[in-house]
Amino acid sequence: MIRYTIQGGAPLNGTVTVSGAKNAAVAILPATVLVDGVCRIENVPDISDVRLLLKIIQNMGAGIRRLSPNTLEIDGRSVRCVPAPEELAQKIRASYYLIGAQLGRFGRACVALPGGCNFGPRPIDQHVKGFEALGASVEIDSGCVTAETEDGLRGGHVYLDIVSVGATMNIMLAAVLAPGLTVIENCAKEPHIVDLANFLNAMGAKVSGAGTDVIKVRGVSRLTGGSYSIIPDQIEAGTYMAAVAAAGGNVLVQNVIPKHMDCITAKLREMGLSIAEYEESIRVEKTRPLKAAKVKTMPYPGFPTDMQPQIAVCMSLAKGTSMITEGIYDARYRYTAELQRMGANVDVSGKVAVIEGVKSLQGCKVKAYDLRAGAAMVLAGLAAEGETIVENAHYIERGYEDIIGKLTALGAKITRSEVPDLEPAEKTG
Ligand code: EPU
Repeated sequence: MIRYTIQGGAPLNGTVTVSGAKNAAVAILPATVLVDGVCRIENVPDISDVRLLLKIIQNMGAGIRRLSPNTLEIDGRSVRCVPAPEELAQKIRASYYLIGAQLGRFGRACVALPGGCNFGPRPIDQHVKGFEALGASVEIDSGCVTAETEDGLRGGHVYLDIVSVGATMNIMLAAVLAPGLTVIENCAKEPHIVDLANFLNAMGAKVSGAGTDVIKVRGVSRLTGGSYSIIPDQIEAGTYMAAVAAAGGNVLVQNVIPKHMDCITAKLREMGLSIAEYEESIRVEKTRPLKAAKVKTMPYPGFPTDMQPQIAVCMSLAKGTSMITEGIYDARYRYTAELQRMGANVDVSGKVAVIEGVKSLQGCKVKAYDLRAGAAMVLAGLAAEGETIVENAHYIERGYEDIIGKLTALGAKITRSEVPDLEPAEKTG
């Protein structure tokens, strides 16, 4: 078990560089299975979810060379259709992208049902609906998804009943090599969806409309390979911005696309943070106490659910009564019990959390329940009086590259240690 120990109260000052986007990388790596050639991918975040996916695609026969810490060369020419090992696939939500990728390349797929952070039920019915519209028969049995076609997929028309990031990307993956035209309507519009489309196009695909609610994919006979650089991580950047809101200080967050940050920047400004935007960076400074705010999480360009726990920490320290309405998941408030143990005043009822700001939080021993909840505990620890111990911090390392190094460089007092396991690792994504 990985444990972080934080001595709170030190403001954050300096520059932090944001890594490549996790939720783009975890779709782009499975997408290399579709490529009958070599992909050179830059700005790949060095996080445990990525390392796990690399193991899975290597097991399928992909040749992987690390050219630098964040640049990979992946050779998909000798990839075979082998089932993703259950013990690996089940650990990560994004293993569902292997279904679309295997189906697209081989006309069949066999992948263990994905896990993922525990936010209540997370069905994949919209992914299945898309695969079926492209001509696949899909069965979910004994924790495994098996998809088959008689003679490969063909273009089709899908209207998503729910705006789903995963389903939008998975259907895109399945469609790129399917002869004919695929139209996906009511798509998600997150920056990582555009990034996946750009990656696929750089490899030879014909995807248009990503970033709008209708995506069209004209099937090509082969993806030949090429070079691509993954976009910066919107949520990692937002987490460092929220860290300044919670702990104070003045930080230049660099390697960001400011447009992707609009929904987060607007809310933090409303709460009193001074924020200046530049071409590829954002300066965040806390010059006055935070004010209460209201947030409803929504699909992009709305406020992201993956920033909900971090903004809750800021609200815990803001003057007045704040309110969060979780618009994506049924149960993403498990972490609030930990926040309350640090002195926060949070009242959760269904999808709504009402947060009465307090003057300060007090350090204590808390658990990371999932990736973003874990990041929120770190933020709370940075802002709190005294020492905070965050247990189960391995969750955090699934999505944040070198968070200890980055925070330490900003003046945070945070250390990492490994101690015997508390409980079996859960799943993420
Ligand atoms: N949904 C369905 N049926 C489906 C698909 C989704 O009912 O077939 C529901 C989900 O249960 C949820 C909503 O639709 O209530 C949206 O789910 P979505 O499919 O958009 O989420 P996801 O693909 O499972 C990805 C990210 C999550 C992020 C969400 C929303 C990955 C690997 N995961 O999950 O990231 O919260 O989109 O933006 O990309 C994280 O990074 O911490 C994380 C949890």
